[in-house]
Amino acid sequence: MISDITAARDSALAEIAGATTPEEVAAMTTRFAGKKGELAGLKKQLGSLESVDEKKAAGAAINEAIGAVDSALDERRANVAMAAMAAQVESERLDLTEFVGKPTRGHAHLVTQAWERLEDVFVGMGFRVAEGPEVETDWHNFEALNMGEGHPARGEFDTLFVDHVGPDGSSGSTVLRTHTSPVQIRTMLTQEPPIYIVAPGRVFRRDTPDATHMPVFHQIEGLVVDRNISMADLAGTIDAFTKAFFGQNWNSRLRPSYFPFTEPSAEFDIQRPDGSWIELGGCGMVHPNVLKAGGVDPEEWSGFAFGFGIDRMAIMRHGVADIREMFADDLRFTEQFS
Ligand code: DAH
Repeated sequence: MISDITAARDSALAEIAGATTPEEVAAMTTRFAGKKGELAGLKKQLGSLESVDEKKAAGAAINEAIGAVDSALDERRANVAMAAMAAQVESERLDLTEFVGKPTRGHAHLVTQAWERLEDVFVGMGFRVAEGPEVETDWHNFEALNMGEGHPARGEFDTLFVDHVGPDGSSGSTVLRTHTSPVQIRTMLTQEPPIYIVAPGRVFRRDTPDATHMPVFHQIEGLVVDRNISMADLAGTIDAFTKAFFGQNWNSRLRPSYFPFTEPSAEFDIQRPDGSWIELGGCGMVHPNVLKAGGVDPEEWSGFAFGFGIDRMAIMRHGVADIREMFADDLRFTEQFS
């Protein structure tokens, strides 16, 4: 009996030493150390032994063998797990040296570059940068900007509505902001005049992408509220911006237009050194109703506002033919603008 036990233990230990995968160790654990394992089988045979001394000796030998097999299994399990981990790390290793000699440093997106340059120029002119949320209330996006319910100008915005039911059970009153103009309202409601801010940001419209439109695009808004602000201040600011951003040999002009939130309203154009004109954005004197919605007394304060697209500036600057190129994330395109 003792020699059977010793033989069973030794062959188990030899097999365990040869295990190389966690699966093999698991199978051996069942085979050698399980309740139906070989050593457990021998244990059951103890009852058939005649003498007490023989039983004792065989019992002790079995316990010793079980202990040896258990600790051999534990040790093997740990070693195999470590080896498996090392193999995985090795197989997932990235050879970063393959990029040596090929500069792959990234750079800001074209729109971000234009956005940051615009901020720089306006900050240089004394403006501060303001922000507002991209998900906006109908009130901030339209109502407070003098576009009450049913105002025809709302139709021009191709609004994306957010499926949201307000705490009062109302729905249809939350939108993805269609322009950066609601930041005018938020700024006036949280800041006393004088106000000199620009608000760059992402805006959304239900548009099918084509060469000149994206459903998600970027605008920069400007708002000035102070005493005795006039149309001349607006024209002077636009011209100073044009020269600072594009160059001293560029000019600007205002053309009469209509926006619900300004009165009078204008489009502003810029003139290239070659004499050709480009339409850039909208502007005007802030409508008294808009000042009132912002909690500003129109008898005491007046202001001007402007807004234009950032993406168009980026395209113009780099001569990109199709606005969609900027958002396709094709390295062959983006790498040209580092
Ligand atoms: N919010 C207008 C738009 O998205 C642009 C605009 C026009 C902004 C005139 C202004 C403004 O602040 O005065 O079409």
